[in-house]
Amino acid sequence: MSVVELSRLLAEKRVIVVCGAGGVGKTTTSASLALAAARGGRRVLVITIDPSKRLAQTLGVSPHDPEPRALPLERQRAVGIEGPGSLTAWMLDPQAVSDRTVRSLATDPAKADLLLQNRVYRHVTSMVAGMQEYTAVEALHRFIEDDHYDLVLLDTPPSRNALRFLDAPSRATAFLDRRVIRLFVPGSHNPIRQVATKMFERLLDLAFGSAARAELQQFIVLFEQVLVYLNRNQTEMQRFFASSDVAFLLVSTPRQEALDEAFYFEEKTRDLSLPLAGYILNRSRAWAANRPMPSEELLPKDASAVARRALTKLVELAGPEAESARQHEGLREELAVRAGEGFALALPELPSGASELESLVVLADRLAAPDT
Ligand SMILES: Nc1ncnc2c1ncn2[C@@H]1O[C@H](COP(=O)(O)OP(=O)(O)OP(=O)(O)O)[C@@H](O)[C@H]1O
Ligand SMILES: [Mg+2]
Repeated sequence: MSVVELSRLLAEKRVIVVCGAGGVGKTTTSASLALAAARGGRRVLVITIDPSKRLAQTLGVSPHDPEPRALPLERQRAVGIEGPGSLTAWMLDPQAVSDRTVRSLATDPAKADLLLQNRVYRHVTSMVAGMQEYTAVEALHRFIEDDHYDLVLLDTPPSRNALRFLDAPSRATAFLDRRVIRLFVPGSHNPIRQVATKMFERLLDLAFGSAARAELQQFIVLFEQVLVYLNRNQTEMQRFFASSDVAFLLVSTPRQEALDEAFYFEEKTRDLSLPLAGYILNRSRAWAANRPMPSEELLPKDASAVARRALTKLVELAGPEAESARQHEGLREELAVRAGEGFALALPELPSGASELESLVVLADRLAAPDT
């Protein structure tokens, strides 16, 4: 059943979001899934967050690319991607996306310039927790509307915040409370507020100096518009992410900490009514669970004493390996139960790492046909 399930996702969904603990293989899995879907004839975009340098090279992306880049055609062909299928990758640069959002929202380009140069803005976009997720969604939104791609794979950052953009529609303004904004912003006719604002300004002048205070005020006035937009957009996005066009996949390794984190995400997807499609158990030995153990029957009747000793040694070595494979397979089965209607697939640990295109092909094959 699992075969049908994942291949169906890759063939039918518009967005697949890949979540999990730090370092479990989210970026690798996103790239492999993207490759599998592109080989299946879809136009795929994978939005990666902080890929390893080697993987970025493999996918042909670099940190400051303003736009996604298609994998060179000859490389696509070499890994079995044929038209109409295509593979495009993008390394998300939160600052660039945020700047673009500001520009597209500004009614007045001069105001946009002011905001983009504002030092507080530059700090906020690099420091505010959640900005990376907001910008990821913002980018995603654009690609879906453009209709350039059939499927977008969305990699997520290694944090529990990865789903925060969907938490509450009002969260975007949570980091700037409206009441605080009003205090900051001069121009009210209410005398009490005017006095409060004056006092507040004096306090800020003492704390930061008047130039910094002015910049902070300017930022708040200009940025509020962006927040209001993000908020509206989030509500729409929330609806989209809960729809049947989207699937969430949880990646974990067999390690307990990674599993705990994946279970946290599982709970979160349930809380937020997000469509959880299944688990990927990465770097596991589950695939070897049904391998035959070395045994006497494998030896010819007249096998030498050396061959028999070698076999004994092999049995000794294979024992613990087989035990860990069984454990991993048991774990995979548990995950399949947790996934309910969804699936749990295991990916092997590749001895050569997973940054080269060839390795991604191996993983993509495994994802497309996990039982072989
Ligand atoms: N199945 C695998 N076999 C071998 N190496 C792997 C496998 N999966 C991932 N790796 C390697 O593990 C490292 C971490 O993988 P990856 O960057 O995909 O994890 P991540 O979950 O995206 O990490 P982060 O949370 O830091 O974003 C990379 O060097 C990658 O090549
Ligand atoms: Mg990653």
